[in-house]
Amino acid sequence: MQGRSVRLLHITDPHLHAHTESRMRGIVTYETFNAVIDRVLADPDPPDAVLATGDLVQDETLAGYLLFRKAIERLDAPIFCLPGNHDAPDIMANVLQAAPFQLCGVASLAAWRLILLNTFSTGDDGGRLPQSELEFLRQALADHADHHVLVSLHHQPVPMGSRWLDGVGLRNADDLMDIIDRSPQVRALLWGHVHQASDRRRKGVRLMSTPSTCSQFLPNSDGFAVDSRPPGFRWLNLRPDGTIDSEIVWLE
Ligand SMILES: [Fe+2]
Repeated sequence: MQGRSVRLLHITDPHLHAHTESRMRGIVTYETFNAVIDRVLADPDPPDAVLATGDLVQDETLAGYLLFRKAIERLDAPIFCLPGNHDAPDIMANVLQAAPFQLCGVASLAAWRLILLNTFSTGDDGGRLPQSELEFLRQALADHADHHVLVSLHHQPVPMGSRWLDGVGLRNADDLMDIIDRSPQVRALLWGHVHQASDRRRKGVRLMSTPSTCSQFLPNSDGFAVDSRPPGFRWLNLRPDGTIDSEIVWLE
C-alpha cells in the first residue's frame, strides 16, 4: 500500500445551482460538470480519490449541493472537499458529512497525506486562514512529518499575475508560507478559485492551480475577463518517492 502511486482527480469550481439548467456566463454548469464526470468515467484508469476545492455551488442552496452529490457520486472513490468563497459552509457540511465524502481535515492516501484547508471568510470573495486553521495546519504537519504532504485550499496563496484576481486571493498568504517554508515534507500546494491552469515551483514545492469545470478566467488580465478555454480538470499521480506527475484535461 505504501509503495504504490495514488491517482488523484482534482476538480474545482463547478458553480452548480438549484436547477440543472441554470447558466453562469452562458454555460449550463451542471451539464459541463457532468461532462467532466463522463470523461473521467470513460478513462480506463479510474481515480483512487477525488479532491473538490470549493465553489461547488453558486446560489447557496441545499438543492445545489444535492445535485453536486448526485453527480460526483457516480465516481466510485473517496471524495475530499473544502469550501470556496461562493459556498454555504453549513449546508455543505450537512450534505457532505458521510462517506464517501470528507469535508476538510487530513486524508490518508498510501504514503501521502492531503491537508484540506478552509479559507472561507464571511462576506469576502478573498480568503483567510484564521488562527484556528493555521494551528490545525501546524498540528497536522507535526503529526505527519514522515509522510509526503499535499496542502490544498480554495484561494491562491501566490499572485497569479492578474490584478483583479490577485485582489481576491488568500489575504494572509504570508502566514501560510511561513509554515510551508518550515515543513520539508510538503511537496505541493494545490488550489482552485482562479479558473485557470498553472504549475510552477517555489523553494522546491510544486504550486498548481486547476481550471474550473465550467468557464475559465483569462490569464494575466488586469480586469475581469472570461477566457474561451473549455471546462477542465487535473489528474495527479502522487508517487511513493514524493514526486508528482500531473496533467490537465480540457474538454475541447
Ligand atoms: Fe469559482
